[in-house]
Parts: sequence; C-alpha cells; structure tokens
Amino acid sequence: MSNSSQPIILVTGGAGYIGSHTVLCLEQAGYRVIVLDNLVYGHQDVVESALEAKLIVGDICDRTLLDQIFQTYPIAAVIHFAAYAYVGESVQNPAKYYRNNVMGTLTLLEAMVAASVKRLVFSSTCATYGVPQQVPIPETHPQAPINPYGQSKLMVEHMLRDFDKAYDFRSVCFRYFNAAGADPEGRLGEDHNPETHLIPLALLTALGQRESLSIFGTDYPTPDGTCVRDYIHVADLASAHVLGLEYLLKGGNSDIFNLGNGDGFSVRQVIDAAEKVTGQTFNVVEIDRRPGDPPALVGSSDRARKILGWQPQYADLITMMQHAWQWHQKRHE
Ligand SMILES: NC(=O)c1ccc[n+]([C@@H]2O[C@H](COP(=O)([O-])OP(=O)(O)OC[C@H]3O[C@@H](n4cnc5c(N)ncnc54)[C@H](O)[C@@H]3O)[C@@H](O)[C@H]2O)c1
Repeated sequence: MSNSSQPIILVTGGAGYIGSHTVLCLEQAGYRVIVLDNLVYGHQDVVESALEAKLIVGDICDRTLLDQIFQTYPIAAVIHFAAYAYVGESVQNPAKYYRNNVMGTLTLLEAMVAASVKRLVFSSTCATYGVPQQVPIPETHPQAPINPYGQSKLMVEHMLRDFDKAYDFRSVCFRYFNAAGADPEGRLGEDHNPETHLIPLALLTALGQRESLSIFGTDYPTPDGTCVRDYIHVADLASAHVLGLEYLLKGGNSDIFNLGNGDGFSVRQVIDAAEKVTGQTFNVVEIDRRPGDPPALVGSSDRARKILGWQPQYADLITMMQHAWQWHQKRHE
C-alpha cells in the first residue's frame, strides 16, 4: 500500500475476478486497499503479482477478525464482492448460499456499524429480477428471483435499505449483468474453478482444455432459441465501483444502479464471436435447459451514466473476447 494520506478501502472478495480488477482500478485512482478474501475461489498469486493491496486471508463470517480489521486500520468504506455465485449450485444447496451471502454480509454490516464505517458498495445482480417483464430492464422493474443465489442478493438489498433507515448507513448496490473480458493490459483475468461462464468456457475449449462446449437449452423464446445475456467488460464494472465509492464518500444517498450495456447476445452469438477471435471451430453440444436460467437478461444502465457519470469504454463483444483471450493464453501457456 502506498500514498499514506489516501483513505483505505476494504475490498471483500478482492482476490476474485471482478474484485481484483476493481482493486487495480482503485489503486490507479490513488486509493490504499486492503483485500479480505478466504481464497475459497480467489487467487493469492494474482493479488501478490499484479496488485499492491495488502491481502488478509479470512472470512467475512468471522466477526472477531472483522472487528480487528476495523480497529487496526482507518477504513473509509467497504466494497463488498465476497459471495458464492453459482446459480445451479444455489438451487441444489441453498443453505450454502444463505449462510455465506446473507449471514456473511449481515456479519460484515454489523461489524461496520459497530466501527462506525457506514459506506458500502455492494455487488448485487440482475438475477434479482427473475424473468423480466420488459427488456431492457430498468432498476424499477419488480424483483422476483427464480433461484436462491438471486434471492440471497435481494435479501442483502433489503437489509441495506433497512440499515440506511435505522443506522444512517449509505450504500450503492450495483446490479450487474454478465461480467466478461479481462484487464486490457493482460495483468488480470477470469479464472473461476469450477468455471461456468460461457466466454471462459469457450476460450478453455479453444485452448484444448475442454473437449466440447455445451448449450443449455435451444427452445427459449428468443430469436435463435438460446439464452440472451448482456455482457459488460470487467474493467467497466471496476470503473463504476470507483465512481460509486466516490459518490458515497462525497455524501451521496443510498442508491441502486444496473450495470450492463443494454445489448443482448445469444449463446450462439457468443460462440460465433469466440470462434472468430480464436480462429477455431468448437464441438458444440446441445443439452437441456439448466434450472434457474431466465430466457433473456438485458439491462438499462442509464441511471449509472446520468447520476455517476459512468462511461463504459469497452462495450463491444469482440473487444471483450479479445481481452479475455489474451489473458487466457497467457494464464494457460
Ligand atoms: N461474474 C459475474 O458475471 C457476476 C454477475 C453479477 C454479480 N456478480 C457478483 O459479483 C461478485 C464477484 O463475482 P466474481 O465473478 O468476481 O466471483 P469470484 O468467485 O471470482 O469472487 C468472489 C470472491 O469472494 C471470495 N469469497 C467468497 N466467500 C467469501 C467469504 N465468506 N469470506 C471471504 N471471501 C469470500 C472468493 O474466494 C472469491 O475470491 C459476487 O458477489 C457475485 O455474486 C458477479
């Protein structure tokens, strides 16, 4: 950590995909950062090689550790990524999701209130909307999640609303659509294990690490029958988090913003883009729908642009794919 006059930001889950890109963006903006990550899915080598942040290996469910962190460091705000995020697993094992995502977050929020650190940026998700009634989805759209993962994030949104009223606790909730891509300079990227996201799965197939690529459901009510998603570059997500943080540090009220590009791509279109960027043709296998997957999720991010001044830099799917491909080749060479 450098610049000892700058505020310290605690980033939970900062050793993960979106968290690590946000830490990089915070550091580039001059913030000092402490990462709290239990490394269940995070990567210590990534934090140590690409970031300056101090890494504390620990769990957001550990209240004693949280109290120690808030007593030791003058933390100005928290950016909270730590969560489990596998939709299919959440259907099979909801208890795991409610324990980590809801109870873990409650533990963090209670420790923050006790330490009078009352500013939080939270990773929510478009999965809180369920099956949309209109596309692009505005923030005012009804929330009716169709899987426990989305439900766990919605519960946290409700907690944050109540904490605002009771404890003057200010938060920015970002409901992101599908994060994609990698640091344009190739320092960081996406490395989930197990991997369930379409773009890295396609790129791992191109690298010969998987034999085939599965399409879950070809009978959805979409133009080509496959699910449609809104992809957003991870560096654009990261810059939004810095803007959300600064909005809160300047005294902004609690608010909720979608983060997407307002453009939908079907699974088949993403596979076509991956074939174009990698120059390979994949063995594609069509299988049944996965439980908990809505047909189309595309968001309107007009509020984030208007209120936070957010300007996505890499809205183009091919650019996201190229950045991801550059990083995957390097990571797996
Ligand atoms: N990837 C997406 O497209 C997407 C979309 C919408 C929302 N989100 C949300 O964004 C956040 C980050 O997603 P990601 O794709 O970077 O996931 P990730 O798994 O790469 O990162 C999450 C990090 O949190 C850590 N973690 C989990 N539980 C923890 C705990 N109890 N204590 C400490 N650390 C813990 C993991 O080790 C991991 O490093 C998650 O909250 C996820 O729900 C992601």
